[in-house]
Amino acid sequence: MDYLEINGGNKLSGTVTISGAKNAALPIIAATILSDKEVTLTNLPNVVDIRTLLKLLTMLGGTVDHDKTVAKINNGTITSTKAVYEIVSQMRASILVLGPLLARFGECEVSLPGGCAIGQRPIDLHLQALEAMGAVIEIKGGYVRAEAPNGLIGTKIIFDKITVGGTENIVMAAALAKGTTTIMNAAKEPEIVQLCEMIADAGVKIEGIGTGILIIEGTDGKPLEFKEVKIIPDRIEAGTYLCAGAITKSEITLLSVNPEHISSSIDKLETMGCSFDIHEDSITIHPADTLKPVSLITIEYPGFPTDMQAQFMAVAALAEGESMVEERLFENRFMHVSELNRLGADIWLKGSIAAVKGVDKFYAADVMATDLRASSALVLAALVAEGTTNVRRIYHLDRGYDDLEGKLTALGADIKRKQES
Ligand code: UD1
Repeated sequence: MDYLEINGGNKLSGTVTISGAKNAALPIIAATILSDKEVTLTNLPNVVDIRTLLKLLTMLGGTVDHDKTVAKINNGTITSTKAVYEIVSQMRASILVLGPLLARFGECEVSLPGGCAIGQRPIDLHLQALEAMGAVIEIKGGYVRAEAPNGLIGTKIIFDKITVGGTENIVMAAALAKGTTTIMNAAKEPEIVQLCEMIADAGVKIEGIGTGILIIEGTDGKPLEFKEVKIIPDRIEAGTYLCAGAITKSEITLLSVNPEHISSSIDKLETMGCSFDIHEDSITIHPADTLKPVSLITIEYPGFPTDMQAQFMAVAALAEGESMVEERLFENRFMHVSELNRLGADIWLKGSIAAVKGVDKFYAADVMATDLRASSALVLAALVAEGTTNVRRIYHLDRGYDDLEGKLTALGADIKRKQES
């Protein structure tokens, strides 16, 4: 198993190019199932989660030609509609094949993803919406078996709770359904906007893109022909590098970003005393001499993202004063707290709220990554901890950060990937 050895204390400087967004690429890869022709995707991040989903497509019989950032996918050759446990258990987002498989083939079997480290993460809202569209769904042997032999029928769906994956699954299902699907209380994340634009560019009429109400006219089973798609920049990777600048008190410039997508992170870092030069697709952070405390509540886009909560907590732990962090989306997304405390942070937890008392310094220790974003928070903390920190279980990081140690090394960090003996 790999781990990262990080010698803290180096200043960072220079530029870092942000990769394509993992969370945009995953639903877009799933959406290629809606087509029986070749689709080209560019600017894919070179991360494990992308390879896992592409592997799932090949297991279904799809043809995939993938080289780091580009994939040519032809799902005209699909012969199976069963997404097996071995893949779905590796990555929950595999559930995104449910909507498109059912819409295109009228039946499918997808393993239930189960819980994950950050919480229970049910898929009840995905299933209820598909049932409302006429699917017959049975859960048996750990699998969701869904059938709609005469196709899915457009209807009005009101999500009880805003769900990113649920909205994506239903947008994809609705694209090939018969008639009009209206999704109320839809998620508005930039990744959903790009998925809708890809489907709209293939000729499907979609109203309300980027709003909480999506109205989609389905093709009544006719597969789509997609144009080439260039994946949008990863706003969470971008936010993480801004936090790297803030925590190490370094001026760094991010290239290939969409500043609008990270405005909530920029806003919070401004509150903490940082300032920015913002251009169309680049942004430079000027760090604060002394970080001020901040209060954060994680909420759906365009609010502050839960996927940035852990990284901000690492930065806030070194602010002068007490910060408050409330996690509203996932019930168990504070596992980085005890690890940050091992590095010297003073964070106190009560339910979904963390009180973060700023300390002067972190001190190196052995720490363990628990989930993707928690792992990057530990790396950020290690960049400034006195001594050598080993961050273990970094397979979590490899799922979603494209060449984190390469990019940080280029910025001047002392970080090495090593193997446990
Ligand atoms: C996606 C992102 C993840 C991010 C999250 C919230 C991808 C691949 N992952 O995850 O990085 O942290 O959005 O921004 O894009 N819920 C239900 N029932 C459902 C579905 C969801 O109760 O059927 C709940 C969840 O438990 C959670 C909340 O709704 O409390 C939001 O989850 P959701 O938006 O669906 O997150 P994901 O799509 O899994």
